[in-house]
Amino acid sequence: MLTPSNKYDAQIEALLSKMTVAEKVGQMNQYNGFWDITGPTPEQGDSKRKYEYLRQGLVGSMLNVKGVEDVRKIQELVVNESRLGIPLIFGFDVIHGQKTITPIPLGESASWDLAALEQSARVAAVEAAALGINWTFAPMIDISRDARWGRVMEGAGEDPFLVSKIGAARVRGFQGDDLSQWDTIAATAKHLVGYGFAEAGRDYNTVDVGTSTLYNVLFPPFQAAIAEKVCTVMNSFNVVNGIPATGNHFLQRDILKGTWNFEGFVISDWGSGIEMIAHGFARDLEHVAEIAANAGSDMDMESDAYASHLEGLVESGKVKMEVVDDAVRRILRVKFELGLFDDPYRYCDAEREKTYILHPDHLATALDMAKKSIVLLKNDGQLLPLKKDQSKIAVIGALADDKNSPLGSWRLGADDHSAISVLEGIEALSVPFTYAKGADVSIGPETFIEEIQINETDKSGFAEAIALAESSEVVIMVLGEHGYQSGEGRSRANLDLPGVQQELLEAVYAVNPNIVLVLMNGRPLALPWADDHIPAILECWHLGSQSGHAIAATLFGDHNPSGKLPMTFPRHVGQCPLYYNHFRTGRPGPLDLVFWSHYIDESNAPLYAFGHGLSYTHFDYSDLVIDASDQKAVKVQVKVTNTGAVGGEEVCQLYIHDKVASIVRPVKELKGFEKFYLAPGEAKVVEFTLTEAELGFYNNAYEYVVEPGEFGVMVGTSSDVGLTGTFELK
Ligand code: BGC
Repeated sequence: MLTPSNKYDAQIEALLSKMTVAEKVGQMNQYNGFWDITGPTPEQGDSKRKYEYLRQGLVGSMLNVKGVEDVRKIQELVVNESRLGIPLIFGFDVIHGQKTITPIPLGESASWDLAALEQSARVAAVEAAALGINWTFAPMIDISRDARWGRVMEGAGEDPFLVSKIGAARVRGFQGDDLSQWDTIAATAKHLVGYGFAEAGRDYNTVDVGTSTLYNVLFPPFQAAIAEKVCTVMNSFNVVNGIPATGNHFLQRDILKGTWNFEGFVISDWGSGIEMIAHGFARDLEHVAEIAANAGSDMDMESDAYASHLEGLVESGKVKMEVVDDAVRRILRVKFELGLFDDPYRYCDAEREKTYILHPDHLATALDMAKKSIVLLKNDGQLLPLKKDQSKIAVIGALADDKNSPLGSWRLGADDHSAISVLEGIEALSVPFTYAKGADVSIGPETFIEEIQINETDKSGFAEAIALAESSEVVIMVLGEHGYQSGEGRSRANLDLPGVQQELLEAVYAVNPNIVLVLMNGRPLALPWADDHIPAILECWHLGSQSGHAIAATLFGDHNPSGKLPMTFPRHVGQCPLYYNHFRTGRPGPLDLVFWSHYIDESNAPLYAFGHGLSYTHFDYSDLVIDASDQKAVKVQVKVTNTGAVGGEEVCQLYIHDKVASIVRPVKELKGFEKFYLAPGEAKVVEFTLTEAELGFYNNAYEYVVEPGEFGVMVGTSSDVGLTGTFELK
C-alpha cells in the first residue's frame, strides 16, 4: 500500500521548485529501450536523440529495459549526467510471471483462489525486481464478454465482482505492503476503460458502451484497484463515447482523479496519444499533446508528443503550468514511494538475479497455480482420472509436445521453449505411453510481433495417429490454440480448433471414442461437437512453465481439479458477446411463435456456463437459509457436503437477482464466493453476508443506491446450478 500522499510532499515540492519546464515535461516522457545499452553510445538517428534526452534529464521512464546491467547503465546515465539526476522508473509487461511463467491471467482466474493469485503476482514481482524492473503494466482488469477478442487471455474474465477481487489480489501481490522494499514493484490497473468491449471482438476497434454498463460493469474493477492503492492506471486505445480514452477528460480527470481520488499517475498506452490523429480526434502531434495533457494523461508512452510539444504548449498557455505540475508531482511521488530517491540502484543487484530467477519456490508456485487453473469441463463415466498402470495409453496432438505454446504470448521475459510439455509431464510420472503428433498446429515463425500461420492442409501424420489410437485403450488428445493465437492483436473470427485439429479429433474418435481431450487455449472455444462426443474434457489454457507437470498430475489423479470458468464458453461464435449476467429482454421466451429473443439456428444457452467446473468428487448442496432480519446485513447460509470418494476443493458461489429496479438489473450477479477443501464425507456450512456493497448499483443519475424490493438468491456450484430462494428489502 502506498504511504499517505503527504509523506513526500515537502520533498516533491522542493524538487519541483528546482525544475525547468523542460525537465518537468521530461518526467512525463517515456521511451522504449532502443539500443544495445552495454554497447557503444548510439551515434545517429532516433537512438542518438533518445540517448541525448536521457542525459539531459528529459525522460522520466523507460520500458522494456531489463537485466541489472542494462538498467544500471541507463540509470547511471541519468543520475550522473542530467542536471537534477532524477532517477528513472523502469516499466515492463510482467503479465503472468517474468522468467518463471505462471498460467495466463484468464487461466489463473479460473482458480478463484485469491491467495494463490496474490502469491503468483508476488513471485512475478520478485523476479522482475531482481532484473531491475520496478513497475509492471499489470493487472489488466478489462472486463470482456467476447471470446473473439485476443486479449481475454490477459484479463480475469467477464464478471465485475470476480475481476475486482482478482485485480485487487494481483495489485497486492505486485506492490506488497511496502513499496520501498527491493522486491515490490508498482502495479498498473489497465486499460481505462472499455478496451475489452471492442466491437465484434476485433482488437483496437470502436467501443460503444452505455453509462449503466460503464458504471456498473467496467468501473468497479478500477475502483477496487484504487482501493488497494494501485500506483498507476493505463488509459486505453479505444474511444469512449466518441472520445479516445487518452484524451478523455471525463474519465481521467472527472472520474479517476476526481470522484475516485486516485493519487497515482496515468500512463498512456503505447502510442495511444499519437493514435488520436488516426481516430480523427487530434489534428497533429502538437494537438495530441495539448489534448492528452489537459485530459489528465500524465505520462506519454512512445508518442513523443510531450517531448516534442508540451513545453511550447505551456509557453503559449494552451496547457497550464498547474497541469504539468500535477502530473510531475504524481510521477515523482511514485518514484519516492519506490525508494528510488534513497537509492536509484535499489533494484540493481546482480546477486539477486542469480538467486531469485527461476527459484525453486517460484517454480513450485507456478505449478500450484497451474494445477489450480485447470477446469474439468466434462467427465462422463468417470473416465478421469486415468490409472497410472493403465495399459496402452496414446497421446496425440502437436501441443502435447510443445514447450513454447504453454508460455502464452505475453512472456517477454521468459526463455522460448522453456515450458514443461505434456509429454514430459507424463514421462515424469513414469507412466508408459506412445505418442503420435497427428498434425502441426502452426507453421512458420512463432514470435510476439508476427502473425502466426496455422497448418490448414498438412494431414500427413493422421494415419499414424489413427493407427495408434486404434491399438490403444485410451487416447489423450492435446488440442487447441497455439500460444501466439491469443493476446494483443490476436482476435479470431472463429472459436473452433484451429487448422485440421477438429478433423483429426473426429478421425481418431471414429476408431477409438475413449478420448480425454486436453484443451490448450487462450480464450473460450466453441466446441459443441467435442462436448457431444468426447467423454472427458480438461480445460488447460496456457499454463506456463510447469504446464506439463500440472496436466499430468490432473490426468492421473494426483491432483483433483477445482477450477471454475471465469468466462462463458459459447456453443457458437455467432452468440458472442455471450455472458451470464445479461439483462432479461422484454421477450425472454421461449414462446410458441417465433417472436422472442432467440436464434432460429442455435440455442441461446452457452456450452459451459460461467462458474462451471467439475471435480473428481461430488459436492452436494443443501439447507439454504436466508435471513433478512438485519436489512443491512442479509445472511445466506448453505451446507456443502463432499459425497464422493476423494477429497477436493469446491468454489461455492452466491448470485443475486434484483427483480425490479429503477434501471434493469442482470438476471444473475455474482456477489460472493468461497473456496474450501472437503475430505470425503465432510460437510461445511458456508455463510455469506449481503450488505449495501453487494446489493446496490449505480442508477440513472449515477448515484449508488440500494433499492427496496424482492431479490432472488442462488447458491451453488456454478452460475447455472444452485439452490434458490428470495428475500425482501423494505
Ligand atoms: C498494450 C499495453 C502494454 C503496452 C506496453 C500496449 O500495446 O496495450 O497493455 O502494457 O503495450 O508494452
